[in-house]
Amino acid sequence: MINKVKQTAEEKYEQLKAALEGTNDQFDADLLDTSAPGEPIPSGARHPVSIMLNKIIGIFERIGFTVAEEREVETDWYNFTAMNTPEDHPARDMQDTFYVRNAPNMLLRPHTSSVQSRVMTTQKPPIRIIAPGRVYRNETISARSHCQFHQVEGLYVDEGVSFADMKQTLLYFAREMYGRDTNIRLRPSYFPFTEPSAEMDVYMGTSDEKSYRLTKGTGWLEVLGCGMVDPKVLENCGINPKKYTGFAFGIGIERSALQNYDISDIRYLFENDVRLMRQFGSAI
Ligand code: PHE
Repeated sequence: MINKVKQTAEEKYEQLKAALEGTNDQFDADLLDTSAPGEPIPSGARHPVSIMLNKIIGIFERIGFTVAEEREVETDWYNFTAMNTPEDHPARDMQDTFYVRNAPNMLLRPHTSSVQSRVMTTQKPPIRIIAPGRVYRNETISARSHCQFHQVEGLYVDEGVSFADMKQTLLYFAREMYGRDTNIRLRPSYFPFTEPSAEMDVYMGTSDEKSYRLTKGTGWLEVLGCGMVDPKVLENCGINPKKYTGFAFGIGIERSALQNYDISDIRYLFENDVRLMRQFGSAI
């Protein structure tokens, strides 16, 4: 019986082979025009937000930071309590957070700082991460602000990490991002999870019309928030603050993308209109 099956299969095979070879002759002769131009392959384009994110990630990867990604739906503890922002802390009002209905402890993260506590509770120092991602805030949508946008968080924790290390790292970033001669300044600020806290500005000058407009005539453009990780945050995450110190920073992406590409309205970034996207076809 097996032999019979084998024979039938062989016959069928020879039959099909002959048929195929037959059509092949036909095909070669009639259909294949080797001088015809190739079919063009349409190339895609990256979203301007992805371009900015990739650029920033590249800059920090070159000095040993690795990418950490975390959830957008977060618990109250990782987002606020661990980050030294307990319930009733006035700083909770700094961001208008979306909470999940019927789940009072769940929220859409309003900043990527929640990745700090996620990483610090699961990894031991030295920690050197960069965390890009989407964040959500209950804000009125306008040309300048949206209820969803992107941030990149940076975190460096090890023995003996100092404010000077932070300043030098951020200066390196600013020069890679905005050009070799860029100068920065750190202005005192407040965040519950860093102490001391600062905001970093880069100097753009006022010599051309665009820099004048972007910096409102001051020459300085605000780029990011940063500071030394508050010892209380380290402790909350199970890291000994007597042994370890660290710094952290958070960079908003959309604003830089708008400035960089002269896009006038943040809403364009979320409409995915191909006419906008196509203009970034050659960018990487
Ligand atoms: N999470 C802060 C914000 O969204 C930015 C920040 C990150 C500040 C890390 C200090 C350290 O505004």
